[in-house]
Amino acid sequence: MGRILIFTGKGGVGKTSVAAAHAWHSAREGKKTLLVSTDMAHNISDIFQISIGKEIKEAAPDLYLLEIDPGYVLENDFREMTEAFARLFSVTGMSDEETLSMPGMDELFTLLKIMDIYKSQEYERIIVDCAPTGETLAFLKFPELLSWYMEKFFPVGKVAMRILSPVSRAVFKVELPGRKAMTDIERMYMKLIGLQELLKDREVTSVRLVCMPEKMVVEETKRSYMYMNLYNFAVDGLYINRILPDDIENEFFNDWIRIQERYINELEEVFAGMPVYHIPWFDTDLNGTEGIARIDNEALAGKDIFAVHETLAGEEYGKTEEGYVLKVHLPFAAKDGVDLHESDKDVIIKIGNFKRNIPKPDVLRRMGISSAKFQEETLLITFSEKEG
Ligand SMILES: Nc1ncnc2c1ncn2[C@@H]1O[C@H](COP(=O)(O)OP(=O)(O)O)[C@@H](O)[C@H]1O
Ligand SMILES: [Mg+2]
Repeated sequence: MGRILIFTGKGGVGKTSVAAAHAWHSAREGKKTLLVSTDMAHNISDIFQISIGKEIKEAAPDLYLLEIDPGYVLENDFREMTEAFARLFSVTGMSDEETLSMPGMDELFTLLKIMDIYKSQEYERIIVDCAPTGETLAFLKFPELLSWYMEKFFPVGKVAMRILSPVSRAVFKVELPGRKAMTDIERMYMKLIGLQELLKDREVTSVRLVCMPEKMVVEETKRSYMYMNLYNFAVDGLYINRILPDDIENEFFNDWIRIQERYINELEEVFAGMPVYHIPWFDTDLNGTEGIARIDNEALAGKDIFAVHETLAGEEYGKTEEGYVLKVHLPFAAKDGVDLHESDKDVIIKIGNFKRNIPKPDVLRRMGISSAKFQEETLLITFSEKEG
């Protein structure tokens, strides 16, 4: 089974450099590796000092690069699917052009491309260099959002079963229908489900957060960790980049070193459950492979950086004596205020600007939320029979 690592973090913290260092490290282990950039402002070609073009390019033995151009991918790899989309949305009166320029479409085709590459089993490891955090979240949550809309507004027929995580599917013994007799729309819907399953398969896909030890970045990193959990993505690594060496004899730097220490300690405490990597602040920029090799030597060498780490399931349904419980792991969320609603079909959790619909399994449709409380970092939502 391959591995997909998604690197994200605030703009400029070192995402591309750290992602590239992983790809470099992986290729040197003799594993065929693809480094994919999904950030529109691609710059992996700068690091490797080659021009990449629109297709996959070999940069070194076992090291391949791809800078995804969604328009090109849409034209070349997903013609049929884009036509199906256009037909689907034509009922709404939208033109083909309008359909394909809907927000989220570029991201969707980028992800589908990555899924196809993964499924081709051509590469043992796929390292994804993402856009800054907010965009990454929009990117990762779109397939789920789209299938939710499709289910609501289009006749996905027999296939229109609730999307459950593989875990809940096992608990509730839901079977997916066979592939025969599916319409265009159903096939597309299945593909979206497949994509979600891949993105949420903790043995394959995980998110790595890159940050720097300073106030704003630390706050954003904690928040993005919470949102990744809200959408049930596995986060299994934190990279603290640009750490000042502590042997600088200079008043000016002494204060900065102390400030950094404070934030490093805070990060280590709050991310204690996962591997935390420390990367020094180098004396020059990191362009070129020597730069990324420095990150590899100083921070990654000798560590099992591609291992699958045990992560707390983001969400999990379980049975209790009175009924059912949904556990959602939401670190740092309690104090920000969480809004909880329910419809017949979904549990709806709102934090800040983000809203997640977690589908209720069939048995819970006739039940209602009876209580919700935080137990440490986990939100426990209990369900019981509705009155009357
Ligand atoms: N530890 C470091 N020491 C020195 N320069 C760094 C370090 N990490 C990143 N850089 C430099 O900072 C700039 C931004 O890094 P980059 O990896 O492109 O960040 P991002 O992808 O998050 O925007 C680049 O010029 C890179 O070479
Ligand atoms: Mg970048």
